[in-house]
Amino acid sequence: MIFEILNKSSKDILNEDSTYQIKFYKNVYDENHILKSKYCNNSLIKELFEEKHKIDYFYDNNYDKEYITARNSIFPTDKKGSSKFSNRAGDKILEVLQLINIDKDLQKKHYEPFYFSSVADGPGSWVEVILKLVKYPVKGFGMTLLIPGKSSLNWYPWILKNRNFIIENGKTGTGNIYISDNLIKFNNTIKSYTNNKMINLALSDGGIEVGGVINGIHYDNIQELLNNRLKLSEFYIALQNLQEGGMMLSKIYDTLGNVMVSILYIASLVFDKVLIVKPKTSRLVNSEKYLYCSGYKRNDKILKIIFDIIKLSNEKNIPETIINPKLIEKDEIFMNSLKTFNETYITKQLDALKKVNEETMKLINN
Ligand SMILES: C[S@@+](CC[C@H](N)C(=O)[O-])C[C@H]1O[C@@H](n2cnc3c(N)ncnc32)[C@H](O)[C@@H]1O
Repeated sequence: MIFEILNKSSKDILNEDSTYQIKFYKNVYDENHILKSKYCNNSLIKELFEEKHKIDYFYDNNYDKEYITARNSIFPTDKKGSSKFSNRAGDKILEVLQLINIDKDLQKKHYEPFYFSSVADGPGSWVEVILKLVKYPVKGFGMTLLIPGKSSLNWYPWILKNRNFIIENGKTGTGNIYISDNLIKFNNTIKSYTNNKMINLALSDGGIEVGGVINGIHYDNIQELLNNRLKLSEFYIALQNLQEGGMMLSKIYDTLGNVMVSILYIASLVFDKVLIVKPKTSRLVNSEKYLYCSGYKRNDKILKIIFDIIKLSNEKNIPETIINPKLIEKDEIFMNSLKTFNETYITKQLDALKKVNEETMKLINN
């Protein structure tokens, strides 16, 4: 599934102060932030939440095995590991690259070095895919959260030894992309290794786990909002380090809240092409999808605005809006393309969820 996000506004709009409305959530743990989204038919979101609440019920009542069995019987290919890469995340990015037709370009012989970054990609299957596809000369740069005692998310040992991949853990030495000083250090490393040429492709696969309940609501329903900081830092890293004409590919979740919508809106102004892609290797029941942008044109004002938001953000200060929602609503072309995407995607996701939930109920009742 591939959708293009379009925009009729001019890039100059990014230079006007009135374009921005910087706000942080007072209480992010509220499903209404998503349920009342202006970027999708609200009754469709309500239906999606009702179906997701059934999964909450399965997990809360120890029917998780039945749910997983039902999900694996309806989506059998999803339960297998990867045959080509170290894990399934590699299959997903390869399928995305094939769907958007850039896998062949990456494999072509090139004479200039191909520079890429891969952030929040520990243990590193995205790096693995790019290093397998792109023939020498290639150099990658990575930053991912180093979690003491959680080696499954730290870089694979062969990546640590690979001379074509430079790991930067930032000023704090933690690899945390929330921290502005770490982003500055990452940028300096890229500048010095590429001789200021900067990167051709910026990748990011970040995600924070969303299991559990807070204030009576399941995190999963506000997964998008809890990932706002991560997605904003990843977006900033791409905009800061890409060369003119460069590409970015980032895993995203829903596109219903103001921050993700702002990211899409900005992307549609600073890139020539913005696509949202759902590969078959990614389960239809979940909200995971991929944002691919190409033809980058740098804008310093937006870089400064996003950097300031990153500096002001913390666990209690999760960004709520960036671009003034009224301005976004005025752009009919952007609104139509985004609403069409959201409603088409959620309709398919709902259909998949209903099938799995019905099958789970059958297993529970048998
Ligand atoms: C879905 S995993 C990436 C999987 C990876 N592409 C693979 O399969 O090899 C998400 C990654 O985001 C990283 N992450 C989460 N929060 C982060 C942060 N604040 N800074 C940097 N990385 C972060 C996690 O440590 C994890 O490595």
